[in-house]
Order: sequence, then C-alpha cells, then structure tokens
Amino acid sequence: MDDSRFISSAEALPTPFTTICEAPSNIALIKYWGKSAPQLPKNTSLSFTLDSSITRTALNFTPQKSTSFSFEFYFEGVLKPEFNPKLEAYFNQIRAYIPWIENYHLLIKSQNSFPHSSGIASSASAMAALSVGLMEMERKLTPSLSETACSEKASFLARLGSGSAARSIEGPLMLWGKTEYLKKSSDYYAIPLKADINPVFTTYQDTILLVDKGSKPVSSTQGHQLMHKHPYAAQRFKQAKNHLKELMPILKSGDLAGFMQIVESEALSLHAMMMTSKPYYLLMKPNTLAVIEKVWNFRKETRIPLCFTLDAGANIHLLYPLADKKAVLELVESDLKNYCNQGDYLIDQVGRGAKKV
Ligand code: PMV
Repeated sequence: MDDSRFISSAEALPTPFTTICEAPSNIALIKYWGKSAPQLPKNTSLSFTLDSSITRTALNFTPQKSTSFSFEFYFEGVLKPEFNPKLEAYFNQIRAYIPWIENYHLLIKSQNSFPHSSGIASSASAMAALSVGLMEMERKLTPSLSETACSEKASFLARLGSGSAARSIEGPLMLWGKTEYLKKSSDYYAIPLKADINPVFTTYQDTILLVDKGSKPVSSTQGHQLMHKHPYAAQRFKQAKNHLKELMPILKSGDLAGFMQIVESEALSLHAMMMTSKPYYLLMKPNTLAVIEKVWNFRKETRIPLCFTLDAGANIHLLYPLADKKAVLELVESDLKNYCNQGDYLIDQVGRGAKKV
C-alpha cells in the first residue's frame, strides 16, 4: 500500500482548539508478535476492543508564530517531562502525515481509568486516544473527511505509536494486517469486523486478574525484536494465519469450544515464543499457571465456557459469555482473586471503541 493517502494537505487555522477523547485498551485473540519497519505486522491479528479500561486525553492546540511544533505532556494532573523523548520520537514519525501540526503548541493531558502500575499495558489506549484527538483536529481543518477515513487514519497514526494501538479505534472485534479473508484489511491500519458476528461475541466479558503489577523484565519492543532470528518464527506466523482461518467461521457460528481452543492456544504460543527466544525469558508467574489450571478444572466440572488469554505479561484475561458472568465472578471472588496481587482484578467487557467526550 502507498501510505501517501494519509498525508494531510490541510492548512492550520489561527484559532485555538480543544478536544477530549477516550480510547479503550484491547485484548488480542490472535496475537501480533513480530514486526518489520515501519511497525508492520508479520501476521494478521484479531482483538476484542475493551470497554472500561480506557485512557482519556484532552488536547489543547494553541496557534504559534514559529513554525516549529512544541508540546507539553501531563499524566494524571502532573507534568511528565520524562515521557517527552518517547512522544518526541512519535511526533517525528507522524508529522509528515499531519503537517498542519507545525503551527501549534499542543498541551496533552491524559488519565487512565485503570489503576496506575496495574500491569495493564496502557500504550494501546494511550496512543489510540492521542491519535483520535489529533484526527478530531484534522477533521476540523478538513470538514469533508468521512468517518471511515478518520477512523482509518486514527488507526494508522496509533499503529506508528504502538502496533496493537491500531486495534483500539473501533470495536467490538478488530482485525489488523492484510489477509485474504477480508478484502479491506491492511497492514497499515486496523478495521472492524462488522459482518456476521455471532451475538454471543458482541457482549463477551473480560475479567482481568492482576497477578503481577511489577514492570516486565523484557519489554514488548524487545520481544518483537527477538522474533527476527527466532528459530520458530516462520512456523509461528503460519500458525497465526491458520488460527485466523479457523476463527473466522467460529465468530459467525458462535462455536465456543472452537473459540476457546484457538484463543488459549494463541496465548500459550505467544509465551512459548518468549521461552524459546535467544535469550529466552519468562513473563508468566507461578500464579499465572495456577490460575490456568483452575480455569481448566472449572470448565471441566461446570461446562461453563470460561477460557483465558494472556498479554505480554503475567496477568490473566478471563474470557466468557455474558450469560455466565455471575458464575465466573463467584469463582473469582471465592478463589481466583487469591492469586492476584492484593486481590485486585478488573471487570471489563467488549466495547465499541474510541469516542469524543
Ligand atoms: O503493541 P505492542 O508492540 O506493545 O505489542 C503487543 C503484542 C501483544 O500484546 C503481546 C499481542 C497483541 O496482539 O496485542
């Protein structure tokens, strides 16, 4: 694809502009693990967009005389200059696509709905909220931009900040990466899966067990890097492709046994890649494994379709239909919360994506 379609030719306006946007986190069912520059995935991924695990970002654009962009970043009310190098690098990557930004000073004020240091990766919701806010400004400068064009460019901009952030723009299911199963799919941005989704998946629940709140010994950026010379990389990309092929009809039929089998296999394969990288590493904790066994036992005993998935970390996402919420939350309260750091967990569900507040 030629990404020139994302280069704006809008002229900056001499008036200030403020917008507040919210974007959720997302949890991958088919994992993205391995990429090539510029942040293009080695395989197609598919995720549930979450609902209440969100970042809310206020953007305040002030026109400035000098034609050199500047910004300030506040997180939860506190000026955070330590984030500037990362943001600077991000703006350098995207300024070619939003040249109008050169004429503004940007004040960014962000906050998360989920607790600080919960072990929940906030880069997806943070980069998505920022990108949607930038697109609100571009929409003001280019009123003829369609909703779809705005969403696709927001996803495109978010992807350049954090790959998985591309999937936090819409919902409840987002697909990122070119695949033969969807003509409109792209490596450059994510698109919502709209047609033929079984209703069971439109209200799916995600309860996030906070097993470990500490920082990870190996970041996702390093993990992606290690896929370059990974002995099983080619096989892993093939597996993800096959899993997607199997999952597409399941999302339509609502075959929950098939769904759980693919989702759990994806989670364990992701961690298997980490354990077989050079150097190898481990992000699961003993309590992660203890909970996985509990989930399997509960499923066997009750026949309730509860399954798990994992991000690049020790925390567990419990995925289950809305109809089973009571039974699963009883299990969490009576047993699984004992495996969580300070007994903490978050109750979330699939959501519809980013929005203007
Ligand atoms: O978006 P990144 O670069 O932090 O990578 C995230 C990768 C996983 O969360 C492990 C999987 C995924 O598809 O979200």
